[in-house]
Amino acid sequence: MLYKNMKVVTSRGIVECDVQVDHGKITQIKKDISGEGVDFAGSLVFPSVIDLHVHARDFNEKHKETVKTCTEAAVAGGVTTVVDMPNTNPPVITSEVFKMRKSLFERESVCGFALNFGVVDAVDEISKVTPLFVKVYLSDTTGHLLFKGDAKELLSLKNPVAIHSDLETTKKWCRLNKGILYVCHVASKPEIEFLKGQQVIREATPHHLFLTRNDNPLSAVKPPLGSEEDRKALWSNLRSIDVIGSDHAPHTLEEKLHGASGIAGIETMLPLLLHASNRGLLSLEDIAVRLCEVPCKLLNSLLGYRKGFFVGADADFTVIDLKREWVINASEFKSKAKHSPFDGWKIRGRVVKTLVRGKTVFEVDS
Ligand code: NCD
Ligand code: ZN
Ligand code: ZN
Ligand code: ZN
Repeated sequence: MLYKNMKVVTSRGIVECDVQVDHGKITQIKKDISGEGVDFAGSLVFPSVIDLHVHARDFNEKHKETVKTCTEAAVAGGVTTVVDMPNTNPPVITSEVFKMRKSLFERESVCGFALNFGVVDAVDEISKVTPLFVKVYLSDTTGHLLFKGDAKELLSLKNPVAIHSDLETTKKWCRLNKGILYVCHVASKPEIEFLKGQQVIREATPHHLFLTRNDNPLSAVKPPLGSEEDRKALWSNLRSIDVIGSDHAPHTLEEKLHGASGIAGIETMLPLLLHASNRGLLSLEDIAVRLCEVPCKLLNSLLGYRKGFFVGADADFTVIDLKREWVINASEFKSKAKHSPFDGWKIRGRVVKTLVRGKTVFEVDS
């Protein structure tokens, strides 16, 4: 299959090219490749959009979300690979459950995936599995998977670790850490200031970038939304944010109205960032770094994936229309969580088509 006239967004700018795809892989990238093909007519395209922070639920929480609905939501939001979090029911803290989870994704996922592994106390199961990160909950959140083990013992294993933490505990783990440490959902000004000087991977979420503290139960989330000063600190320190991840955390409306924490944000993450780029808050290159290139490097180097924009990579592409105006309508989400604090937002920038390994898995209706 030949894709003609793409404008591919990379950290080094926009590459105008044709792309040859065979058996789901990129086999050629050139200014002009002769032959008949699908004409992208100069559309902007992101290669390999990865969401490193997704709670796909399923197992005993199919009422919240399933792998199928979660990944359908992902591709509708232009995400072509999801990385799943282990605070499921049952939790992914044994090699048996990890294997179950993997085969569930292999059967049901409509996009690429990788899994994280949870640890509560015993670290010996870790050597039996192949997660992207070992996820450690150091302050309480959905699933109550609090780490009760020894930080030094875990960090001495040299597995890449992702933490959900408060600032004091983050400081301690930064001191002890010698490997790869991924800090989930950096949300406050003191946190971003502290992490500026640290050798860690810093993630921010769209809700902390776009919302502030309010009493709408639909925006209840951990860590909680901050002040306008916190929110602005994230934007003014964008250079210290390595990854933007949705922290897609679906709950039913009923559960939200009873205080559940978590926002189903995978369908709105890229559109909100496109909207922000239209308003001059960041560039398309900034988005490519944080949604594509940094996550690709992690998956490629740690798990041997072939994600990104190069010959030999999986042909994962997200076609966008930067100028298209539309209104976010949560009742039309593919996610089972058909509610959002962004419901009704009028934005500019839309995902129009998503391809995973060369196959079209999403196309916008109108
Ligand atoms: C997440 C969830 O519901 O799984 N909730 C949230 O508020 N972010 C858990 C988490 O990421 O801490
Ligand atoms: Zn968390
Ligand atoms: Zn989370
Ligand atoms: Zn009720």
